Amino acid sequence: MVSRVIPVEPFDLVIFGGTGDLARRKVLPSLYRRFWTGQMPASSRVIGVSRKSITDDMFREFAHSAIRDFALQGRDDEARIETFLRQLRYVSIDATGEAGWDELRSSLRPDVVRAFYFSVGPDVFIPLSEHLNRHGIAGRDCRIVIEKPFGHDLESARDLNRTLAQFFEERQIYRIDHYLGKETVQNLMAVRFGNILFEPLWNAQFVDHIQITVAETVGVGGRGAYYDRAGAMRDMVQNHLMQLLCLTAMEPPSRFDPDAVRDEKLKVIRALDPVLPADLVRGQYACSEEIQSYLSDVGNGNSLSESFIAMKLQVSNWRWKGTPFYLRTGKRLNARASEIAVVFKDPPHSIFGDETGRRGNVLVIRLQPNEGMNMWVTIKEPGPGGMRLIEVPLDMSFAKAFGDDGVHVADAYERLIMDMIRGNQTLFMRGDEVEAAWGWTDPIIENWTIRGDRPHSYSPGSSGPDEAMSLLHREGRQWREIAE
Ligand code: BG6
Repeated sequence: MVSRVIPVEPFDLVIFGGTGDLARRKVLPSLYRRFWTGQMPASSRVIGVSRKSITDDMFREFAHSAIRDFALQGRDDEARIETFLRQLRYVSIDATGEAGWDELRSSLRPDVVRAFYFSVGPDVFIPLSEHLNRHGIAGRDCRIVIEKPFGHDLESARDLNRTLAQFFEERQIYRIDHYLGKETVQNLMAVRFGNILFEPLWNAQFVDHIQITVAETVGVGGRGAYYDRAGAMRDMVQNHLMQLLCLTAMEPPSRFDPDAVRDEKLKVIRALDPVLPADLVRGQYACSEEIQSYLSDVGNGNSLSESFIAMKLQVSNWRWKGTPFYLRTGKRLNARASEIAVVFKDPPHSIFGDETGRRGNVLVIRLQPNEGMNMWVTIKEPGPGGMRLIEVPLDMSFAKAFGDDGVHVADAYERLIMDMIRGNQTLFMRGDEVEAAWGWTDPIIENWTIRGDRPHSYSPGSSGPDEAMSLLHREGRQWREIAE
């Protein structure tokens, strides 16, 4: 199956933090891949900006190594890499200083889409915005891209929104949650709203419960200081898992347009009940023979932050009242596996009797790895000898269905950057959405902080603390196995 690539308009994209980790791992490799497919026009320019005093060629060498490390996979045509690298420029600017801004202005063209990627810490957003404004670089038509974390709590998120609003209109601000750029996440909308099959069943009458799991095998890596201040709740739940929940639970928007979609997501966040302490389990990974503990990873022996969290949520509206949503995410678990599982109720009556096996439809939307979907259905176990029922998956792997002829499943950043250039905000978070998510998160964190709750310990390579199992067991349910 061949996917159609529609080139975007030519653009000038300025990456602040152009020599940083995100630029190296995600932004530059994604641009190269889009260039390689023909979506990024050869007349576009990418301008790296950072404090470092380096030349255009040195920046190109940096980008070349980023492409080699993160973007090749069958795209190692040196001539094409060279053409891409020729589109790159570099300007040295200290965001708080005065030097370099004129050079940046003169390297931008008037007649192309102009975008600024703030791949820098939030403390630099304000000076950057001020300088762009004062030097007449960012007009009312430019776009800015902001990475997470968008604030640390409701108050800081509001401050950030207010500050940005002094310089930019909401239609110019692209707040990234890279989970929204994942292929399967968008497929969730396609499956729900592009088929007649699911929507009539997508409610408390037919759905027993929903499980959303984002499991990682990695630890906190070199980000200990940031992570320990955030914990899994701020790092993953407030943004990524919240977005997955919203797309799963929202009402059909009237159109697939940015505000219609974001309005519906916002309603879901606003319909969330506060989480009771008994419905929430936090964990911290202990050490094993090969792996050091969370406490050693973050260098804080007294840390009370969580590297794992599981919780039961209730969306209080007509559609979902009575159907719990169970969320869990954690680091150093037994597999890297993220999925949304919609577990349907049993048929009201079994004509085959109770001895014939389990019956239960589950729709699993796999985010990673092996992006795809499977729908578990009940069939007769083949062979003679009576009516025994078994469950089999109708299995669809996107890589198998669409990938064999070379169409690759685009990385989230590829899609999001191209959407931003096109001016499509559907897959970006609106300011009020981010604030609502913090507004729900803050009291939960405050609650456990006041009570001085300690996270439960769990072994690296496990599926989290035992207490997380009880969250479902006590209600006669069980978590799906975390497996690749
Ligand atoms: C980031 C978090 O936003 O998402 C990380 O800060 C996490 O802690 C990462 O590891 C997970 O992203 P992905 O795409 O690998 O699932």
